[in-house]
Amino acid sequence: MPSKPKVLVTQDLPGDAISRLREGFQVDLPAPDEGIGHGRLVERLADKQGLLCLLTDRIDAEVLDNAPLLKAISVCAVGYNNVDVKDATRRGILVTNTPGVLRETTADLVWALLLAAARRIPEGDRMVRSGGFAGWSPSLLLGHDVHGKTLGIVGMGDIGSAVAKRAAGFGMRILYHNRNPSSLAAEVGAEMVSLDHLLSNADFVSLHVPLSQSTRHLIGKRELDMMKPTAFLINVSRGEVIDEAALVGALKEDRIAGAGLDVFENEPRLAPRLVGLANVVLTPHIGSASVETRERMADMAVGDLVDALEGRRPQHLVNPEAFQS
Ligand code: DGY
Repeated sequence: MPSKPKVLVTQDLPGDAISRLREGFQVDLPAPDEGIGHGRLVERLADKQGLLCLLTDRIDAEVLDNAPLLKAISVCAVGYNNVDVKDATRRGILVTNTPGVLRETTADLVWALLLAAARRIPEGDRMVRSGGFAGWSPSLLLGHDVHGKTLGIVGMGDIGSAVAKRAAGFGMRILYHNRNPSSLAAEVGAEMVSLDHLLSNADFVSLHVPLSQSTRHLIGKRELDMMKPTAFLINVSRGEVIDEAALVGALKEDRIAGAGLDVFENEPRLAPRLVGLANVVLTPHIGSASVETRERMADMAVGDLVDALEGRRPQHLVNPEAFQS
């Protein structure tokens, strides 16, 4: 009987998807406390046909050079900027991701951050817990209204559109900036504008662009200076889309009212002085972190990897040009 093809899974995933993967493949999974750095990933991938990786695993030329048998890389995330897709394609390696399935969960977190920042929820929580709540006061922790304000969405793709839909419940006006007009715009009454117009007119700016050379530091000092001093910036996309040092400056000097960040430029490290600021709400890259969604992402990532390794075209292929039927 031929031996089962070998797959490296860089970290265990919620649900039973990895157990199912074991039925048809020899799965190499580091122990939970073992972790897998870049060097070990290179070593352990040397005899594998498949890789199931996370957004934190850098899949670069060094990895690919040392993986002569590799046929497929399944990224358990919608963002796949950690993979050198061009190089993988050149080598005929299929790359897949998990789009769609995490849209609603991530959009929910945008609203959690937006509301938490505008209504100063973490500050209130800290005050109550530390015994600092001395009773109701007319000027205690005044935040900013969300309802009736203007929401600016940068990147009206899957997640941006789900964020826009939720704005209807808050009676908000929606501006968006996108390469192409969005088919959802008419449904939610959203107006397509330039990035500069959006930044200068929105009360809440939410970022939903993939990370690429053209979106790295899309929001820097110039852009932050265009925002209203009462506006908030929300980011659940990729940290590198914002120049974090410039953001710290803007928050420190109250040039914008606040921010809600789920992602960071040098994750998991934070820009100096960010944690000391009261006007920013910070979460540890948990946009898609619900039990249901993470299980669905794992199922999707495993399903695509199995398809790719068994010669079928995976459903969520990001480099179709690498597929040969
Ligand atoms: C993704 O899938 O790209 C998200 O950042 C994970 O939460």
